[in-house]
Amino acid sequence: MNAVLPATLPAIPVPGSGAVEARFEPMTAERLDAVLAVEQRAYSHPWTRGNLRDSLAAGHMAQCLLAGDELLGYLIAMPGYREVHLLNITVAPPHQRQGWGRLMLDALVLWSRGLRADTLWLEVRASNVRAQQVYLRRGFSRVGLRKGYYPLRHGEREDAVVMSLPLEYA
Ligand SMILES: CC(C)(COP(=O)(O)OP(=O)(O)OC[C@H]1O[C@@H](n2cnc3c(N)ncnc32)[C@H](O)[C@@H]1OP(=O)(O)O)[C@@H](O)C(=O)NCCC(=O)NCCS
Repeated sequence: MNAVLPATLPAIPVPGSGAVEARFEPMTAERLDAVLAVEQRAYSHPWTRGNLRDSLAAGHMAQCLLAGDELLGYLIAMPGYREVHLLNITVAPPHQRQGWGRLMLDALVLWSRGLRADTLWLEVRASNVRAQQVYLRRGFSRVGLRKGYYPLRHGEREDAVVMSLPLEYA
């Protein structure tokens, strides 16, 4: 399942990187150090190496977005029956707000269409207004709330906003 996305990316200039172009490559065990380093900078409650390993072992779609050797971001998604669940999408902090998150969502939509999925699903922390804005801009809607879904600090919990995007076919 960890195949290269069907979305063939055209040459994408990376701001400040001269002629370097961005590309997707499968997330492999060799890339987990770099992924973990970004994960730990991007989240208050990052995925652990074990979480990432489990995802790869489960055969989830896991792709890295690279510019040369630099990791711009990554996404992990789990296909189900006519649906795809986005589990993790992260852009490395220095590269945020430059369109890479949107590009990864677009690639995810193309990949999900290739599977003939009807719906894309995701959960996002209620406090993560920024990510919710990005998803809303890409056409997702808020469709529900999971109470206490995420760990917070001192044993407290935080709600998840459930968002979905129907995938339409002509
Ligand atoms: C959420 C995240 C993946 C978005 O990636 P990004 O590369 O920073 O976002 P983009 O630059 O592609 O922005 C996508 C769209 O959202 C808009 N947007 C981005 N940040 C925004 C903000 N803070 N407020 C409002 N709109 C915002 C952009 O203007 C853009 O809209 P457009 O396509 O209409 O121009 C990235 O910020 C990130 O990794 N954050 C930390 C980890 C995280 O929260 N992941 C999601 C967990 S559910």
